[in-house]
Order: sequence, then structure tokens, then C-alpha cells
Amino acid sequence: MRILYLISMVALSIGCFAGSVQKNDSNPKTKRKIGNSVYEGKQWVVLVTGSSGWENYRHQADICHAYQIVKANGIPEENIITMMVDDIAYNKKNPIKGKIYNKPYGHNVYKGVKIDYRANDVNSTNFLNIITGNKEAMQSVGSGKVVEGGPHDTIFVNFVTHGSTGFLSFPDSFLFADELNNAFNNMYTNGNFAKMLLYIEASYGGSLFDGILNERTNIMAVTASGPRENSYACYYVGFPYYTFLGDDFSVTWMENSDSMYGDFSAADITVFEDYSVVREAIDDSNVMIYGDYHIGNEPLSSFIGYQENDSQSTKAISKKTVMSGMSSKDVDEYSVLDQLTNDKLTAIKKSELETELSKNNRMRSIINNIFRDIYSKVLTATPEIKEIVGEYDAPHNQQLTLKMFPCYRSIINTISDSCFSLTQNPYTLDRLNVFANLCVADNQIHELVNNLVNESCANIPKNIINVF
Ligand SMILES: *[C@@H]1O[C@H](CO)[C@@H](O)[C@H](O)[C@H]1NC(C)=O
Ligand SMILES: *[C@@H]1O[C@H](CO)[C@@H](O)[C@H](O)[C@H]1NC(C)=O
Ligand SMILES: *[C@@H]1O[C@H](CO)[C@@H](O)[C@H](O)[C@H]1NC(C)=O
Ligand SMILES: *[C@@H]1O[C@H](CO)[C@@H](O)[C@H](O)[C@H]1NC(C)=O
Repeated sequence: MRILYLISMVALSIGCFAGSVQKNDSNPKTKRKIGNSVYEGKQWVVLVTGSSGWENYRHQADICHAYQIVKANGIPEENIITMMVDDIAYNKKNPIKGKIYNKPYGHNVYKGVKIDYRANDVNSTNFLNIITGNKEAMQSVGSGKVVEGGPHDTIFVNFVTHGSTGFLSFPDSFLFADELNNAFNNMYTNGNFAKMLLYIEASYGGSLFDGILNERTNIMAVTASGPRENSYACYYVGFPYYTFLGDDFSVTWMENSDSMYGDFSAADITVFEDYSVVREAIDDSNVMIYGDYHIGNEPLSSFIGYQENDSQSTKAISKKTVMSGMSSKDVDEYSVLDQLTNDKLTAIKKSELETELSKNNRMRSIINNIFRDIYSKVLTATPEIKEIVGEYDAPHNQQLTLKMFPCYRSIINTISDSCFSLTQNPYTLDRLNVFANLCVADNQIHELVNNLVNESCANIPKNIINVF
């Protein structure tokens, strides 16, 4: 009863669109199949979300949904590794405790999810140890499970989080493109997999792979957005949730997959076919592919399994109304503004929200002034690089290279140590392109920049947090 009541209160304003893959009804049984796979090795699945907090509900919802899909598709539990902070199901803001939904009127996707690494264990060091199979490093952390892949195995990594130029966010650490790339190269050299597929939902997701991911190491990445774009959230639910339940890219590929559950032609749908449907269905951002395109001709079921069920008739795929999502950079502000429109709002709550908004605006301008200050001091010291870097408000589009990462990482770490957390202030993530450009222009520039960072941040308020 309570559930019905709550769900009926749901105000839906932003939706997702799920397209459909054209099915080919030729008999897939002619294909060599082993278990729920058309592939002979083991299938490993790594599901990760690097965000936390109620405002990022959607990321953990996406990952839980992915768990349901691979589990139902027959991937053995021991081959699924899940990393999520796990602060949503029992969050004090959750009106239905213990349940997480990835769409309005949907199923509880939290049900049965086995989480291997939660809370502080969700960090970049652990993630890299997990994918590279460093069992020793993980033996006393979480479940200790790692990818123990071999030369015939496939690995599917689904990573959903906030991102910025050249890195993905964990709650308190960063995963930089060069670190990820090193891990991939080691895994390839050590024969840890036959084929690897990455589905990445994060703003600037393309910047981790564009010009970086090797075309010949049997790894392909599909990203929700290009190198210089935000990704988009969807399924906003107002009172009593005031948060987004999903993300465009994740929800689209997963609802597609759900719609084919039990239909055995799903076994043959290739990664490219899935990609083209998802790309077409999403018009807010550009869904991109990088790396080794040979992987595109593999059946997606080699990575995520599939469910064969002869008795089930092919379901008609219902096309939803096309609605646009919301840029991840606007999500938090939208939620606060929406709460303010609730006419049952108490005066106290209203004034809290207004205070939050005005504080947020103040903090935004502090952050912006600091970045602007650092930028102009660096450019005063080295005016010749302006041509490469561009204006603070209009940085040039530079291709990241592996060579620039030590410099960039050093600057990012210094800003985090001396100024404010970048991972805990989503507002900052859309403003780091210019620092990446500095390192593209001169990969030794970090010493100069770090000094100026420390100087500019010497007198700013302590504990700037959750600025959106
Ligand atoms: C269906 O698949 C078969 C075998 O893979 C192929 O020969 C045929 O052309 C496909 N048909 C369509 C409509 O894609
Ligand atoms: C990640 O967590 C582990 C414990 O789970 C800890 O030993 C390690 O230092 C952490 N790394 C980072 C980058 O926070
Ligand atoms: C196959 O589909 C039918 C009809 O939807 C269902 O009753 C049955 O439980 C399914 N079998 C499996 C093994 O999923
Ligand atoms: C900047 O300050 C941090 C401490 O906040 C310090 O660890 C670092 O060495 C300083 N960097 C430079 C270049 O002065």
C-alpha cells in the first residue's frame, strides 16, 4: 500500500529512451555454444560505481541493474565482482528502505546484489588490483575476489561514475587514463583475457580512451559521451525522492537487454549492433567507441551472457516517448529547485534550501576565481603556451597523450590536497580541461603550477564540499 502511494506521488519529468535491436531469427543453435555463452572461456564481469551520496542515487541503481542482467544471463556469481559504496538502499532519504529502482514503476534492482567491495574499499588502487588479478593485495579487503582471467576468458567492465578530463572519480581517489592503460597492457601481456569490453558512463568518458586505448589489444571501450562532453541523467523522480533514478546510456543499453530476455536470438546480437541502437537512441551526448574494433563483431552475449528460453514468445519491444535527459552538471541544482516548488514545504526547510543554494553560488565563485587566478598566473609566467591552452573560459580541444599524465596527476593531487576535494565537488570537474591543456603544452609545467596552486589556495575557506 505504502509503495503504491509513494510511487503514485512520483513526478516524472525526464525520461530515457530505449531503442530496440533488430532481431535475426535464423537459428542460432548452429553456433557453438557453451553454457550461456557462445564463447568457450570464462566470463568475468566487473561492476563499479565510484560515486556516493543520495544525489548520485542513479549510479548505484545502474550498477545494481547491471548485476541483475548478468546474473539472470547465467554469469556465475563467483565471476561477478561488484564495487559500490552502498549508501543508497538504507540512506535516510530513501522512502522505501532496502530498495533501489532504476526506473519509475520498475523492479527493486538491489534485491540479491552481492557487493564485494563497499564503503572505503571503493577506490582506484583496489579497482586496479581487482582487474589485474592481484589476489595477494586484496586478500584482506572486502570479499577479496579479483579477476582471475586466462587467455580464453572475456572481461566485461561496467563503470558508472562522475568523470572529468582524463580520469574517472572514486569517492576519494582518481582513476587516471594512463593508470588504466598500464593495467590493460599488463593484462594483455600476461594473457589475462581473450577479449575485453568496457561500458563506461561518465562525463568526459571518451577522454580516457581517445588516442590512448590501443587498437590491437582486443579491448574495446564504449563510452556514454565523447572526450569533451557531459553524460546525461534520466528518470527524475520528485517528492519524496528528488533524485534521478538512471542515466541515459546505462538505462538504454540495459532496458534493451531486458527486452530481449529469454529470446534466444539475443545471443547473436553483436556489440556493434547494440552500440548502434544505443547511440541512435541517445541524442544528448555522443555515445562513442574506442580501441580494438574487432571486439565490435563479437556477440554481446560473449561478455554479458544471455538467457535462452524456447517457451517464451518474443516480446514486443515497447518504444517509449523520446525525452531528453539532463546533463550531469545540472542534476543537483535541478533537484534543489524542484524541492523548492513543493507547496507542502515547511518554512524552515524552504529557508534551508535557499541558504544551500546561495552558499553553493558563493562557493562556485570562489572555486572559479581560484582556477582563474592560477590560470592567469601560469600564463603570465609562460605566455607562449596560450596558443595551445586557449582561454580559461574557452580552452582549446587538445588530445591527451600518455606523456602528459604525470604532470596532470601532480596538479590534480595538489589542488585536492591544498584547495578542495575535486571528487566531492562536482562543480570542479567541468573546469579541469585547462589544466590538462597546460600539461599537453609542457609536461614539466606542474612544478610551476603547483606552487601557484598552493599560493592561490593559501587563504580560501576550509572544507569546501558538495559544490555542484
Ligand atoms: C541473419 O543471420 C544469418 C546467419 O548469420 C545471415 O545469413 C542473414 O543474412 C541474417 N539476416 C538478416 C536479416 O540480417
Ligand atoms: C584503497 O583502500 C585500501 C583498503 O581497502 C587501502 O589500503 C588503500 O590505501 C586505498 N587507496 C586509496 C587510493 O585510497
Ligand atoms: C521460460 O519462459 C516461461 C514463460 O515466460 C517461464 O514460465 C519460464 O519460467 C521460463 N524458463 C526459464 C528457465 O527461465
Ligand atoms: C603544496 O602544498 C602541499 C600541502 O598542502 C604540499 O604537500 C606540497 O609539497 C606543496 N607543493 C609545492 C610545489 O609547494
